[in-house]
Amino acid sequence: MSTLPPSVRLETGQGGLPLVRVTAPASTAEIYLHGAHVTSWVPQGQQPVVWLSAESRFDEGSAIRGGVPICFPWFGARAGHPEAPQHGFARLSDWELVDAEEQGDEVVVRLRLTDSEATRASAWPYLFEATFTVVVGVRLSMTLEVVNRDTTEFAFEEALHTYLAVGDVRSTEVTGLEGTDYVDRPSGPDPLPGEPGPVRFTGPTDRIYLATTAPTTVRDEAGARAIAIAKDGSATTVVWNPWLDNARAMADFGDDEWTGMVCVETCNVRDDSVLLEPDQSHTMSARLEVSGLSTP
Ligand code: BG6
Repeated sequence: MSTLPPSVRLETGQGGLPLVRVTAPASTAEIYLHGAHVTSWVPQGQQPVVWLSAESRFDEGSAIRGGVPICFPWFGARAGHPEAPQHGFARLSDWELVDAEEQGDEVVVRLRLTDSEATRASAWPYLFEATFTVVVGVRLSMTLEVVNRDTTEFAFEEALHTYLAVGDVRSTEVTGLEGTDYVDRPSGPDPLPGEPGPVRFTGPTDRIYLATTAPTTVRDEAGARAIAIAKDGSATTVVWNPWLDNARAMADFGDDEWTGMVCVETCNVRDDSVLLEPDQSHTMSARLEVSGLSTP
């Protein structure tokens, strides 16, 4: 790795895990090498945009609760592999810091994960190279590129499982998914027809919106702001809030924290999983930007 620019420092974070701290003119960010996990993004003059649980674990064997877990190479449970960790091995793996550079007012950080003995022995045994690029500026831009380094084709699922901080999820709505069919994960595999209005939260919400490349906006009344999420290379969007009982059932999630977060996840899952031939690559990205609520 080349020398880090002054805006980027490699520090010891919670649980003794290595942490990349970025201080750009317009915002700050924190990225753990464990999972290439963005745990903080705070634009200047704003409350944190990326939510992190106060109860999160920070250890090699656990996924960080909050931030932006990278789900790869599968999402949810791995069919036929009850031993496989939920949401894949990427968020449990230590990524390598490749480089970091300042480009004008933005700071670019690149991290990499390649197959290892452990991943080759896992429920997804292929040779691959994944590069996660985070651009910290007025916007937070996150790009996951996956290259097939194997001699055979492979398919994978992926998600930038973005936890967003809101004033109160009960007065928050997500626009951009109107009329989009979705799978309601708790109630079953068959898609339900899209609803005409924005997504509103009145109970546990765990939905996979299908065949959508649309940008979304989280309109947070209590926080008096909007978070726009633009995406590329992604054909599914997951919206999740555990609500009270599910939050209480999670040891690494504060009992009352569910009111202050919502996940809007940029994904390719289920029928939109990605198929790559040898030497082919695929890129998926998400960009977050904050504005006042008056912006439509
Ligand atoms: C969401 C899933 O993406 O992640 C939910 O749709 C799941 O079903 C949630 O509960 C959190 O998953 P985990 O493994 O981080 O607890």
